[in-house]
Amino acid sequence: MRRKLAAGNWKMNGTGASLAELADLGERHADPAVDILICPPATLLSRAAEAVQGGAIAIGAQDCHAEAAGAHTGDLSAAMLKDAGASAVILGHSERRADHSESDAQVRAKAEAAFAEDLIAVICLGETLEQREAGETLKIVGDQLAASVPDSATAANTVIAYEPVWAIGTGKVPTLEQIGEVHNFLRTELVHRFGAEIADGIRLLYGGSVKPGNAGEIFAVANVDGALVGGASLKAADFSPIIETLENA
Ligand code: PGA
Repeated sequence: MRRKLAAGNWKMNGTGASLAELADLGERHADPAVDILICPPATLLSRAAEAVQGGAIAIGAQDCHAEAAGAHTGDLSAAMLKDAGASAVILGHSERRADHSESDAQVRAKAEAAFAEDLIAVICLGETLEQREAGETLKIVGDQLAASVPDSATAANTVIAYEPVWAIGTGKVPTLEQIGEVHNFLRTELVHRFGAEIADGIRLLYGGSVKPGNAGEIFAVANVDGALVGGASLKAADFSPIIETLENA
């Protein structure tokens, strides 16, 4: 059985004042039936890790460099993120693929760097609206999966997040059939590549405009093991009902 995962991606949102939301979330979910991960901006990582200490919430980062150290102004290594208290890192989010031209090969190298520091890699993939309308969705996500996920991926070190680019921050959500089609396809691809034992343990998250109001139907889709939530993860009052919905799914 895969343990479900509710992951929050705060993106470029949050200052010290936002730690109150984290404390609130921790109080609401002291003994959750699912894993909870919050990925604040890097400036908050160590304070966030302190704020959740002793509780059930894990802290993750939103990106890392592929190298362990060196002359890379502004970048952060996996070792630094771990040192700051992160146990996971989001990699290959479509905003990074678009804003920073990140390639599948770079995402894969970053994931390997994360594994080397025992960080869980939450590897994101998803098609654009143009690609979906051209009927290319499964080809695109299949290629991204093949090229972004390292051969050393396991159920313990890897989570895959399917996030259609056109659903992120837009309020638009694919139909349940569309979500199910992609998640079943991703599971089958993982089985082909890694074998059933590893593939059955890798969690597949859906991401893109997940809200308290639509979480229930999305979590009922086969092979949806949780969500990667942006906007609705910023406030405990919004994220908490999504966590509860996942616990009851
Ligand atoms: P959203 O973002 O929930 O605000 O659509 C999801 C994501 O980008 O991970």
